[in-house]
Amino acid sequence: MRAVDLIAKKRDGAALSRDEIRWLIASYANGTIPDYQMSAWAMAVVWRGMDDRETADLTMAMAESGDMLDLHDLVPLTVDKHSTGGVGDKTTLLLAPMIAAVGLPMAKMSGRGLGFSGGTVDKLESIPGLRTNLSAEEFRHALSTVGLVIAAQSGDLAPADKKLYALRDVTATVESIPLIAASVMSKKLAAGADCIILDVKYGSGAFMHTPEAARTLAQTMVAIGKHAGRRVAATISSMQQPLGFAIGNALEVREAIAALRGHGPDDLVELCLTLGTQLVRLTGLRDNDAAARSLLQEALTSGAAWQRFVQMIAHQGGDLRFIEEPELLPTAPVQLNLMAPQSGYVAAIDGQALGTVCNQLGGGRQRKDDRIDSRVGLVLYAKVGDAVNNDMPLVTIHAASIPDAERVIPQLRAAYQIASSPVAVPPLIEEIVR
Ligand code: URA
Repeated sequence: MRAVDLIAKKRDGAALSRDEIRWLIASYANGTIPDYQMSAWAMAVVWRGMDDRETADLTMAMAESGDMLDLHDLVPLTVDKHSTGGVGDKTTLLLAPMIAAVGLPMAKMSGRGLGFSGGTVDKLESIPGLRTNLSAEEFRHALSTVGLVIAAQSGDLAPADKKLYALRDVTATVESIPLIAASVMSKKLAAGADCIILDVKYGSGAFMHTPEAARTLAQTMVAIGKHAGRRVAATISSMQQPLGFAIGNALEVREAIAALRGHGPDDLVELCLTLGTQLVRLTGLRDNDAAARSLLQEALTSGAAWQRFVQMIAHQGGDLRFIEEPELLPTAPVQLNLMAPQSGYVAAIDGQALGTVCNQLGGGRQRKDDRIDSRVGLVLYAKVGDAVNNDMPLVTIHAASIPDAERVIPQLRAAYQIASSPVAVPPLIEEIVR
C-alpha cells in the first residue's frame, strides 16, 4: 500500500477499508509514514468525514497500537468517565470518589490541560506530594486496595492516538467528529473499563459549539463503545458558561473539596449526580434513575465519598494537610476584584475566553513542556441569570503579579454580557444518549 493512494482516496470522498486504516495507523505509529502525509490524510477526513464502520475501525486500530489493559484479575467490573473538555470542569474530582464510595471500582486515566480547557491531572498535582505518573503495578495496586485511582495517561496506551493528536493540534484538524470520537474512544477502550459514561459538552467553553454537534459526537462514541462490547452512555451538557465558580488548578481542587464536604456549587453537584446515575445504571447496581441517584446522594451526604477521596490522595502520596485544610493549597499572591460594569442580570459568560485568561495567567500551557502555575485562576461571583449590582465584584483574578492581573481585565470585561431585564437560565443537561 502507498500512503499517497489512501490520501487521494479519502480526498475524493471514498471510504477506506479496514485493512487500509490498520496499515495507515500502524505505519504512522512506527514512523514509516511521515507527519506531512498523515496531516494531509487528517485534513481530508476533516473535509470528507468517515462513515460509522471506518470510525470504528480507526478507533480499534488506535486502541490496539499499544497496551490493552485488562483489570479483571483484580476487580470483576471497572467503570470509567470521560469529559470532552470544558472550563472549570472538575467533575472527575467529585464523581470518581462518589462512584468508588458506592462500591464500583474506578480506574481512571486522565489528561492534562488542552488549549483553553483544563485537565484533571494538572488540577490534582496542585496537592503537594501527590503523584499521578504511576507505573502499571502502582495503578493496579491502588485499584485493588483503594478501589479508586486517577493517574496520568501512560505512554503505552493508544500511542498512535497520542502521536496523531499532537499532529492534529498543530494542523487545524482537531475539529472533526470521527477523529475526536476515535481519539477519545481508543483511549477508553485501551484503558479496559467495562462501563463508560461520556460527558459531551457543548457551548462557548467546549470543542462542540452546538447541542446538535454534541449529539452527533455522543451518538458516534456510544455506537463505537457498544460495537466493542462495552456498556456506554453519554450526557450532553452545557458549557455555555463555566462549571461551578472556580477556574484554575488549585482553586478547582478547593471547590471540589467543598463539594465533597457537602458545600458544592449546585451545577457541579447536579452534573455529577446525573453522570453517576447513568454509570450506576450501566453497571446494573440499580435499575432505575431514582434509586441510583439516591445511592450517590447518600455517598455524598454521609461523607463516604469524601473519605474515599482522602484515601486516594493518601495512597498516591498527597499530603493530607492540604486537603483537610484547603486554604493551605498554593495561593496566588495577588487577588484583584473586577467589579460589575453596571447593575442588571448576567446574560452570558464566554467560557472559552475565561479559560484562555486562566491560561494567560499561567494556569495552562502555551507549549507542551511549559510548567503551570497551580495558584492562578478566576473565582466568579455570578452565573448566567444572577442579578448583579455595580458595587459588587463579578470575578476575583488570582495572579502571580499585579501587571499579570491587570493585563487580563479587558478580556474578562468582554467575556460578560449584562442585561437590564431578567434572563432565563439555560438547562445544564440537554439530553442523555444511551
Ligand atoms: N479529546 C481527545 O482525547 N481527543 C480529541 O480529539 C479531542 C478531545
